[in-house]
Amino acid sequence: MTIKPKVTGFFDAATNTISYVVQDPASKACAIVDSVMDIDYAAGRITYDHADAMIAFVRDNGLTVDWLIETHVHADHLSAAPYIQTALGGKIGIGRNITMVQDTFGKIFNEGTEFQRDGSQFDRLFDDGDTYTVGTMTCEAIHTPGHTPACMTHIMGDAAFVGDTLFMPDGGSARADFPGGDAGQLYDSIQRVLSLPDEMRLFMCHDYGPNGRDIAYETTVAEEKANNIHISGKTREEFVKLRTARDATLAMPRLIIPSLQVNMRGGELPPPDEDGKRYLKVPLNGL
Ligand SMILES: [Fe+2]
Repeated sequence: MTIKPKVTGFFDAATNTISYVVQDPASKACAIVDSVMDIDYAAGRITYDHADAMIAFVRDNGLTVDWLIETHVHADHLSAAPYIQTALGGKIGIGRNITMVQDTFGKIFNEGTEFQRDGSQFDRLFDDGDTYTVGTMTCEAIHTPGHTPACMTHIMGDAAFVGDTLFMPDGGSARADFPGGDAGQLYDSIQRVLSLPDEMRLFMCHDYGPNGRDIAYETTVAEEKANNIHISGKTREEFVKLRTARDATLAMPRLIIPSLQVNMRGGELPPPDEDGKRYLKVPLNGL
């Protein structure tokens, strides 16, 4: 808690995602958390404005990238981790249970045997409690499943990157109805995050500005404990009931089909077809 990294959020308005550059206060090292690749899905067009802004920030500040962290396999935006890695270096890391997600969606997208389901597209698979360094800062990955089986919360100094384990207090929590998701497990994971020190800064992966408020993505453990509309004062049973009822009303995320095909490959586009072009699949009635 004595190490206070500088955290810069990059909000992506197209997907309501927040990507972060996290700087070790004692060196020029940084980590990039949950980057975004832009897609115009209707046009099948990939661009990199959001990632390029992060790359420019890293270069302008003379930083070196030690890690590109994915808190989980996102279903609502595409990762730009390999694109940023090519430009800036660094290692790409995700939770060990990516293999479960690859297995599930490898089947749904009928990927052939050339699609490895062993997480080998990533430089590192984190187990619960694993540590790694960003400059002089020792960081820790803790397993916080429920939204997806591979979700990890990453602790860097006095800051924790919770992915979709929590939203801002007035946003509650993320859905738990994707394959491998589990509302009870999500409750337990949230309790684990809330057992961190009260003053720990928490950074969200998404914010939708509920009730017309401005976009916000930083809070604290104490604020979440006191005010989270899905958690505060609720039992596990009450949370599971509320979460399950709400999930039953939610449509699929707009970009789930392209997101999963790219993100299960560590942010790489599917390999080229015989004509040298790359394609995304749409499984009919498959999700
Ligand atoms: Fe997510």
